[in-house]
Amino acid sequence: MNNQINTIGVLTSGGDAPGMNAAIRAVVRAGNFYQKKVIGIYEGLQGLIDNNMAALSSRSVKGILNRGGTILKSSRSEEFRTMEGRQKAYGNLKKNGIDALLVIGGDGTFTGSKIFSEEFDFPIIGLPGTIDNDLFGSDFTIGFDTATNVVVQCVDKIRDTAESHNRLFFVEVMGRDSGFIALRSALASGALDVVLPEESAPMEDLFAELEKSVHNKKTHKLVIVAEGNKWGNAFFIAEQVRKKYPELESKVTILGHLQRGGDPSCTDRVLASRLGVAAVEGLLKGKRNVMAGLIDNKVKFTSFSEAISRKAILNDELLRISKILAI
Ligand code: F6P
Repeated sequence: MNNQINTIGVLTSGGDAPGMNAAIRAVVRAGNFYQKKVIGIYEGLQGLIDNNMAALSSRSVKGILNRGGTILKSSRSEEFRTMEGRQKAYGNLKKNGIDALLVIGGDGTFTGSKIFSEEFDFPIIGLPGTIDNDLFGSDFTIGFDTATNVVVQCVDKIRDTAESHNRLFFVEVMGRDSGFIALRSALASGALDVVLPEESAPMEDLFAELEKSVHNKKTHKLVIVAEGNKWGNAFFIAEQVRKKYPELESKVTILGHLQRGGDPSCTDRVLASRLGVAAVEGLLKGKRNVMAGLIDNKVKFTSFSEAISRKAILNDELLRISKILAI
């Protein structure tokens, strides 16, 4: 174990994700287990610049394993993109005696961390914390399972009313530029179609699915729309469908930030706990500039460069199955 590291800083950055608290708890307790001091940095990378930090103890992270959000708060720092901001951040790390950082976030967080780590030769390890599941180097990101469960619960409720009125519903879900949430929740909620950012099919494909569902006498018609898809938002798509099929009564629901809240699922708590401990142990073994992830249920470290530059690929099999089952 590396004795150079006595004090570890931990922060959450970017869009919050259920399970971030479980990851903070794991980092603090694993750090304490190895006799390291852990300092929590508030409001993400911005907190480094503002010197907004306080020591955390194993007891101060009690009761957070099951809570959504992040006790450390989060931000998307513009100032950290500047050299001046990063210099202030480095000065504050030195002032507080922090020897290494564990950052919980998504690609924006890792991009900033990689630059910082290289500029100041500072050890950093990342934990994938985003509902989007869009990071190369981990089969699942912390928060994704909870978010997809929230979507499925909401779509189940929408189905009840869709069924009662024979209505078509377009449900827009998050995922910025990736369709992981959309695809998984479409399969789990029995949607008749899913509109993904990764696909370049024409809108006629959706029209064909709708006609098939009318022909097959489906009484509810649910279409999951990923926010980053190439056609437009759910209102725009619904409008195009209304123009073509005025006889189909359609409604739009945007699930929005609902998807980021709530108690983390068991899967996310376990994932966050495993990755929190792995990140501390990785750091003490001398790893740096990498993201801790889970691949085939085993902890693996992937360089920040790869995690940022390579694209997490959707599982084609899920798409194929959801098309078969939407009949
Ligand atoms: O990255 C997580 C995420 O929830 C995306 O799915 C979404 O596009 C984005 O954050 C929304 O960001 P904000 O909360 O800053 O509007």
